Amino acid sequence: MSQIRQFLNEPLFASPVFGYELPDCELLNQALLAACAARRTSEQSMAVSNQIGWHSAPDLFLRKEEAFRSLCAQIGQVLTHVAQTTLPAFDLSIHDIQAHGWVNINPKGGFNTPHAHQGFHWSGCYYVAVPDAQDNRSGLIEFLDPRASVSMRMPDESVLFAPKFQVRPRAGTMLIFPSFLNHWVYPNQDDDERVSVAFNARVEARAHPQGAAVAP
Ligand SMILES: [Fe+2]
Repeated sequence: MSQIRQFLNEPLFASPVFGYELPDCELLNQALLAACAARRTSEQSMAVSNQIGWHSAPDLFLRKEEAFRSLCAQIGQVLTHVAQTTLPAFDLSIHDIQAHGWVNINPKGGFNTPHAHQGFHWSGCYYVAVPDAQDNRSGLIEFLDPRASVSMRMPDESVLFAPKFQVRPRAGTMLIFPSFLNHWVYPNQDDDERVSVAFNARVEARAHPQGAAVAP
């Protein structure tokens, strides 16, 4: 390589998946559980990718409960970090991050069918309660390779060519991934419920009239 000069190194058509841990989240999670339970007693479930589970209206960023407001503020920080990490020249002063979100509660047997989140740049999920898995696939989130033309696999299932990628969620953590990335959630096999708060976000030129800005 001594005479050879590299002039290109681009992770073309990449699907970066980010994970974050929120600090000191025990009290937040308790408050979120109470707020989610209160909503569930008075609101009908939406029918989207949820099977058996309860899915709230997508009004997370409009909620007045302190627990939801606190989580939204932290989602805004994380989305800003993701935007700046993936686009180092990203100028927050001329953009808004528009987002909506909702609560998912999967009781035993509940799961989410494969789907993507069209119309957004970034999607994510914060995990409020995740039962200890007796079944080693219970409650896993699995991302599916969006590149239809990939036909060869590496013998060691290198992530570059692997057809799927699984993450075992933990309470207090947040995942962020490109909205085009298909994913699904394995059935919760535990008696305890799996509770999460999911969201979609898009980066808009400032002063877009729709949605709720989660970051200035
Ligand atoms: Fe999703």
